[in-house]
Amino acid sequence: MSGFAEYEPGVARQTADVRVRPGELRDLDACAELIVSRTHGSAAERRERLVADLANPDKYIAVAVVGDEVVGYGGVIRHELKPDDPPTTAPTGYYLIGLIVSPAWRRHGIGELLTRDRMRWTAERADAVYYFANQANGAILDLNKNFGFTEVTRDFIFPGAPLEPGTCVLLRAALTDR
Ligand SMILES: CC(C)(COP(=O)(O)OP(=O)(O)OC[C@H]1O[C@@H](n2cnc3c(N)ncnc32)[C@H](O)[C@@H]1OP(=O)(O)O)[C@@H](O)C(=O)NCCC(=O)NCCS
Repeated sequence: MSGFAEYEPGVARQTADVRVRPGELRDLDACAELIVSRTHGSAAERRERLVADLANPDKYIAVAVVGDEVVGYGGVIRHELKPDDPPTTAPTGYYLIGLIVSPAWRRHGIGELLTRDRMRWTAERADAVYYFANQANGAILDLNKNFGFTEVTRDFIFPGAPLEPGTCVLLRAALTDR
């Protein structure tokens, strides 16, 4: 199981009364459940990591809410290259991570709203933003194409992310809102 959405270009977008805002403590149970629905593992442990992220000024949590329900999550982290890192380590910068929209709410423009909000947050801090994805994840690659991402490399590693060699692509977009 890939954990990707089925690639279905051209499907009509539906509308939703959705609000995207910075995550708060009360959202983190739902965020953790969304994340582990894809990555597996413990929701409680994931929630603890999100609690720490909330307190970290180099990290950002965005949530999408419909009524009282958290239906989407996306993060930003800052990654800093260290002198001893292997030469193919991904560059220093801010990275969009972990975007996930609840299956029942996909194709409503929510992933796009969460990405726009995270790019706004990053643009206040840097002049570029990165993300990486599996080359087979057509949904996220198409989504981010609309935000001006272009490929940097397919030969990279990222600390803490067990990427199968040759399967992922690293992309970058310039941010102009500074
Ligand atoms: C990828 C994901 C976040 C997209 O969320 P979403 O809210 O459904 O996406 P949006 O409705 O905002 O779609 C925006 C654009 O992305 C592209 N897109 C989104 N889902 C797609 C799909 N299943 N197939 C093809 N293109 C897709 C389309 O270009 C779409 O624009 P359009 O509506 O004009 O066609 C969602 O499918 C998901 O949670 N997938 C599983 C987790 C995942 O793979 N995350 C990425 C990790 S790097």
